Amino acid sequence: MARLVIVSNRVPAPRPNKEEKAGGLAVALKDALTGRPALWFGWSGHISASTEPNVHVVGDTTFCTLDLTEREHRLYYAGFSNGMLWPLLHYRVGLTEFRREELEGYRAVNEKFANSLMPLLRPDDMIWVHDFHLIPLGAALRALGAKQRVGFFLHVPFPPAALFDALPQGQGLLADLKAYDLVGVQTESDAENLRNAMHDGAHVGAFPIGMDAAGFAADAVKSVRRKEALRLSASLSGRALILGVDRLDYSKGLPERFKGYAALLKRFPEHRNKVTFLQVAPISRGDVAQYRALKRELDELAGRINGEHGDIDWNPIRWITRGVPRAQLAGFHRLARVGLVTPLRDGMNLVAKEFIAAQNPHDPGVLVLSRFAGAAAELKGAILVNPHDPEEIAEGLHAALTMDTAEAKSRWAVDMETILANSAAHWSQRFIDALQASQAALVN
Ligand code: ADP
Ligand code: F6P
Repeated sequence: MARLVIVSNRVPAPRPNKEEKAGGLAVALKDALTGRPALWFGWSGHISASTEPNVHVVGDTTFCTLDLTEREHRLYYAGFSNGMLWPLLHYRVGLTEFRREELEGYRAVNEKFANSLMPLLRPDDMIWVHDFHLIPLGAALRALGAKQRVGFFLHVPFPPAALFDALPQGQGLLADLKAYDLVGVQTESDAENLRNAMHDGAHVGAFPIGMDAAGFAADAVKSVRRKEALRLSASLSGRALILGVDRLDYSKGLPERFKGYAALLKRFPEHRNKVTFLQVAPISRGDVAQYRALKRELDELAGRINGEHGDIDWNPIRWITRGVPRAQLAGFHRLARVGLVTPLRDGMNLVAKEFIAAQNPHDPGVLVLSRFAGAAAELKGAILVNPHDPEEIAEGLHAALTMDTAEAKSRWAVDMETILANSAAHWSQRFIDALQASQAALVN
C-alpha cells in the first residue's frame, strides 16, 4: 500500500500535556488513518525560533511538525489564514482584513513547509494537503520537482465567485489550485462555486466528509454512564437538555442561537423552567480580535438571558468556554433532547453528525440544524432553520421539544443510515481512489 502523506496546519501529534485542540479536520483525519502507513506533516502548534522538525511515531503514523516563529504565526496563521481567508470563505467579506505583508508571510510559510517536506518524500507517496492554510503548498512542491500525485481538500465552504473576487491577488491562489491533481470540497454547491471561480473545474469534486458513527455511538453508550454525564443528568432535575457544541467562532452563529433560545422562552412560555441549554464552546483563535469580541458579546448575552428569564432554581443557559474531551461530549449528546447546530456557514459540521451518532435509537433526540451547514445537504431528518432568524430558531426548538417519539425515531433513523454509510475511512478512501485515477493538471 502506497504511503499516505497528509499535510495540514493543525496536526494531532502527541503532546506532552495531552491537550486536544477541537476541530473537524484533525478528528476526521485521525478516524480515516487506521491501518495505513502515513506521514503527517504540519505545524507543531508551538511558536519558537527552532527550525528542527519534531518527530513522533505512533503505530503506522509518523508525525513530523515544525514550529513557527512569532512573525510567521502572526502573518500566516492569525493574519492571512484567519483574518482574511476564513471570513472570506465563510461569506463574511465585511470581516476580512487584507494586508500584503500577511499574504507574503502566508506564501513564505507554505514554501518553508514544502522545503522541509520535500526531502522526506518517497517516489510512490500519495500526498494529500488539507485546508485553506495550505493552498499554495502543491505548487510549491511542484516547483521543487515533486512528481507524486498531490491532492487538496478544502474543509470549509467556497463562496460564489463574486465574493471570492474581493480577495486581492485571489487569482494567484486559484492558479495555485491547478497544481493539484484533484481538489475536493464538501458539497456540490462549493464545487460549483469553485469551478466558476477557476473557469476550469475539471479536477474539482465534492467529497462530503464523514465520521466514525459506529465508534462514536459506542463511546456515547459508555460515556453516558460515566461520572460527568451522570452529574449533568442529575443537575437537570428532569428538564430537557438542549445542547450546543462548537469552537468559539463567529461562523457558528452563537449570538443568533442564544437569541433564538431567548425567543423560545418568550414565545413559548410552556418551556420555561422545563429546559436547560448547555453551550460548550472552547476558545479558539484567541489571538484574532474578532474572536475576542465574540466572547465578550456571548458572556454578556448569556448573563442577560439568565437574568431576564432565570428563576431562583433555574439558570436557562449554561455557558462553558473550556474544552471538553470528545468522549465525554458523546455522552452529553446522548442525554440531550435537542442538538442545536446553527452555523451561519459551515463546510460540513461534524458536530451535527456526532449528535445523530450518539442518540439512543429507542428514544432519540432531535437535531435542529442550519440550512447553511454542509451537513444539511445530507441530514434530511433534521429540522432545518435559517440561523439568521432567532424566531425561526425558536420555532425549530419548539417543534423539536414537542415532537412525538415515533416521528423523532423515523427522522433519526434516516440520518443515522446516512452517516453510517459515510465513515471517515470511506470518505478518505473515496478521495484517494479519485486522486489515484486523476489526470495531472500541472501548471508547469
Ligand atoms: P470545525 O472544524 O469548524 O471546528 P466541526 O463541527 O466540523 O467544526 O468539527 C468540530 C470537531 O471538534 C468535532 O469533532 C467536535 O466534536 C470537536 N469539538 C467541537 N467542540 C468541542 C469541544 N467543546 N470540546 C471538544 N471537542 C470539540
Ligand atoms: O475545519 C476547519 C478548521 O479550520 C481546521 O482546518 C482547523 O484545524 C479547525 O478548523 C480548528 O481551527 P484551528 O486549527 O485554527 O484551531
